[in-house]
Amino acid sequence: MATTRTQVGIIGGGPAGLMLSHLLHLQGIDSVVLESRTRVEVEGTIRAGVLEQNTVDLMVDTGLGDRLKREGLEHHGIELRFGGRGHRIAFDELTDGRAVTVYPQHEVLKDLIERRLADGGDIRFGVSEARVHGHESDTPSITFVDSDGNEQKLDCALVAGCDGSRTETRKLIPESTVRTDHFRQYPFAWFGILAEAPPSSDELIYANHERGFALISTRTPDVQRHYLQVDPNDSVDNWSDDRIWDELHQRVDGEGAEIKDGKIFQKSILQFRSFVCEPMQHGNLFLAGDAAHTVPPTGAKGMNLAIADVFVLSKAMDHFFVNSDRKLLEAYTATVLPRIWRTQHFSWWMSSMLHRLPDESGFGHRRQLAELDMVTRSVAGRTLIAENYVGTPLIF
Ligand code: PHB
Repeated sequence: MATTRTQVGIIGGGPAGLMLSHLLHLQGIDSVVLESRTRVEVEGTIRAGVLEQNTVDLMVDTGLGDRLKREGLEHHGIELRFGGRGHRIAFDELTDGRAVTVYPQHEVLKDLIERRLADGGDIRFGVSEARVHGHESDTPSITFVDSDGNEQKLDCALVAGCDGSRTETRKLIPESTVRTDHFRQYPFAWFGILAEAPPSSDELIYANHERGFALISTRTPDVQRHYLQVDPNDSVDNWSDDRIWDELHQRVDGEGAEIKDGKIFQKSILQFRSFVCEPMQHGNLFLAGDAAHTVPPTGAKGMNLAIADVFVLSKAMDHFFVNSDRKLLEAYTATVLPRIWRTQHFSWWMSSMLHRLPDESGFGHRRQLAELDMVTRSVAGRTLIAENYVGTPLIF
């Protein structure tokens, strides 16, 4: 079995794993990334699309900003729509000029992969059967089968579990004796479409409507991303293109807004859940991103939270290798959890303020409208949304 030695073995080549590898490299630390999908699959899977100001700043500061600055669409506000009217949350005025940038996750991944390979980075695509051994010892290793079917071994000092929500690495933190999982399922889901159409609006629209929530988003000037609240058991087959556009018009059109139809080329249903596992580490294994937590998509936080985790983890690993001191590594979970729970709260709050609950009485909907009215009328309320939407600064 061929053996490679590296300082950090990273399982998962999504935003968390690749950004961790990039940040470690800039600190002079060697890593190997193991990814089960092919490069084409990683670069072609359409996921989230909104980058917080912190994520943009980190990408620019670490040499990943060229295409992002050219092709990303900077947004200085969002619209909350209810009672048939739009209410703008002006990020630039409320957060001292901070903004978000619409730049799809798979474009971030393309930039990261290209940069890692240009820097001599080691990313193994198409690997299978990745298993971690000895993570409770000082000499962990990972065995795996490479894309040619050969068994391989990676000896390392630290292991990062960045293998997404279907994680295997999380299971290595013993449940109940060490690990507690906090989980919440929501009684609704999102039906997402991608359409060849002109933008319907300059900014994202989050609409609360009696028929259910709708979100108007974008990907590029020619491709739009929209979502409709649906039942979690609904199926894509129940939705013809006409029915989708009709529903979007009903939920969003009104004073100052009119959806522009187009050719729908992708339809999918996204389930809503919140999840956090505590702690996010065990011995020399450290989890980051969706392997450790999931947020509902309403605040567009998933990828940003993964990047915030590995920002902290990269500093803690650097401190360990430079000073032979585990202090920051041991503090990793406690350092990142407050941001994770704040983000859980924000995503839950936005979700609960904007969606129609299936068994909701007239009282429930009127209470929601009153909350939206209170929040959007008050500078303090709008600032709370704006600060959390653009993201609070990264700390470590
Ligand atoms: C998206 O464009 O996919 C998107 C935008 C905003 C959200 C969630 C998803 O809150």
